[in-house]
Amino acid sequence: MKQEKTTVVEHHNFQGEYRILRLSAPQIGPMVKPGQFLHLLIPHYDRSILRRPFSIYKADADGVSILYKPVGRGTEAMRILRVGDPVDIIGPLGNGYPQQAEGKIPVLVAGGYGNAALFLKAKELPVKGVAFFGGRTAQDILCVDEFKELGWDVRPTTNDGSLGTAGLVTDAFDPWMKEQNIESLELFVCGPNPMLKAMGDRAIERGFTAWLSMDKNMACGVGACLTCVIKRQTEQGWEWARCCKDGPVFESREILWDE
Ligand SMILES: Cc1cc2nc3c(=O)[nH]c(=O)nc-3n(C[C@H](O)[C@H](O)[C@H](O)COP(=O)(O)OP(=O)(O)OC[C@H]3O[C@@H](n4cnc5c(N)ncnc54)[C@H](O)[C@@H]3O)c2cc1C
Ligand code: FES
Repeated sequence: MKQEKTTVVEHHNFQGEYRILRLSAPQIGPMVKPGQFLHLLIPHYDRSILRRPFSIYKADADGVSILYKPVGRGTEAMRILRVGDPVDIIGPLGNGYPQQAEGKIPVLVAGGYGNAALFLKAKELPVKGVAFFGGRTAQDILCVDEFKELGWDVRPTTNDGSLGTAGLVTDAFDPWMKEQNIESLELFVCGPNPMLKAMGDRAIERGFTAWLSMDKNMACGVGACLTCVIKRQTEQGWEWARCCKDGPVFESREILWDE
């Protein structure tokens, strides 16, 4: 983990409301593992000193890219970043996704910016399986061509039926799952909490492995403030686990969801 004073090298619209921000970050870029995130201090934004967490979409020796959607005051303030502006980041943070277990068939399940969070994993995995992407409309299904170029069989689902199967991601996943050798599946999931829980419940009921990247609001991002805790199952009962430091990726059986 490093704190780096980076520079904006690219910043533009991507698809729908999503934007791409690329930062020159030669110290952090080479250290990144799939599923890790960075904590970004938004310049020209003096209402809060809190950083904002973003999954690392792409990383190489020169820098990192994020794919973000403006949803509030902080991310709206990021819109005005220009090429050459300085941006302070801490990263790479979090545990990231584990290596694929031997003999397993990888499956990706993502919604919204989850597609960006899974892109490096999709690239790294030696076997390319099926990728289920969910969103409200076609505009929310990101990077389809990039995943296809890597060799993934992409199955989109949209709530309004504007792309792929109409409904939720589970409406495409469930019929497919019935045809599979369940124990051999290993899922890598990133998306909104209801999607994470739905996939986690299926993994526990049906006996396959699912790695879920938890989406919790974060303050410090480095394990000190306990803003981001979830309940993690232990042999004795449960304990608090920090999504920023112990996660964000947990196996479905570890997570005790709040009722
Ligand atoms: C590990 C991790 C990785 C993330 N990766 C990405 C990414 O790759 N791309 C991206 O666009 N966003 C990502 N996010 C979400 C991003 O951090 C939030 O959208 C951002 O912090 C919102 O800041 P804001 O000041 O604009 O919004 P705020 O004013 O703080 O909040 C505006 C609205 O957004 C909601 N919100 C804030 N944080 C989150 C969150 N974590 N999840 C869901 N809703 C939230 C608030 O409840 C509120 O309704 C990630 C979050 C986490 C925890
Ligand atoms: S955000 Fe502070 S402990 Fe996780």
